[in-house]
Amino acid sequence: MNAKQKQDSHALKREPRKVTLHTLRNMKIKGDKAAFITAYDYPTARYADIAGVDMILVGDSVANTTLGYTSTTCVDMEDMIRHSGAVTRAVERAFVIGDMPFMSYQQSDEAAVVNAGRFIKAGCDAVKCEGGKRVTPRIRAMVNAGMVVMGHLGLTPQSLAQLSGYRVQGKTAAQLDILREDIVALEKAGAHLVLLEAMPPEAGKELHDSVEIPVYGIGAGPHVDGQLLILHDIIGMQDTTLLRKPSFAKRYTEVGNIIIEALSRYCEDVRSEAFPAEEHWYKGRI
Ligand code: KIV
Repeated sequence: MNAKQKQDSHALKREPRKVTLHTLRNMKIKGDKAAFITAYDYPTARYADIAGVDMILVGDSVANTTLGYTSTTCVDMEDMIRHSGAVTRAVERAFVIGDMPFMSYQQSDEAAVVNAGRFIKAGCDAVKCEGGKRVTPRIRAMVNAGMVVMGHLGLTPQSLAQLSGYRVQGKTAAQLDILREDIVALEKAGAHLVLLEAMPPEAGKELHDSVEIPVYGIGAGPHVDGQLLILHDIIGMQDTTLLRKPSFAKRYTEVGNIIIEALSRYCEDVRSEAFPAEEHWYKGRI
């Protein structure tokens, strides 16, 4: 089978219907777990969609994974809309969520609605913003404007300084109480979905069981409605100076090594003049 035939056979195996909010709610009711990953560009979003991933987050982690920054706070709306458009142009089935970058919703309800609207115009099915009680007015405003909104609790990288760095959240009863109040407040404000990041499985379960809406996790244990991982952690496309695979992520392949090996063979072929061979020349005489 060549590469195209392999892709076609994967595409045939996946459930063809577009994933909607209704699909996600039904999956929760049936106990079907959603496979959720990040993607930031056309080709990887296309591969994810063909592979049958249910949900794609165009995460502000594009800052670290793709743009070479060390913090998610470095990306802005222009970055996020460009990457969201690339993803939504590639995707036919998965539910696509645009991640609202730092300072695109913090300042006012109006800013939140205008910026969230740009993600929807770029083809996203929903937007995500970080925070609990303190962002509920923003969530309510975006929901009132007709948009599907995902909340994000636990380790929220946009407020990393307040959290004193990358730390597991919800480890104490007091922390868990605050998170429980936050998730209930998000649901009350109209959030349709919630993502939990970096907490013990018991905390993940407790928060999941505190609300009716679908709750997903990244490093939050198994007792949630689906699992999110960062694409680059799964496929081994990391420069270790920018990213380290977190312990909760599972590595399925080493794409970085495959790319380095292919490019070093290309370098050798150019230097030895093995490339271009006659088959790579345009045919015809001048
Ligand atoms: O930007 C992102 O990828 C995220 C996840 C880490 C939750 O927000």
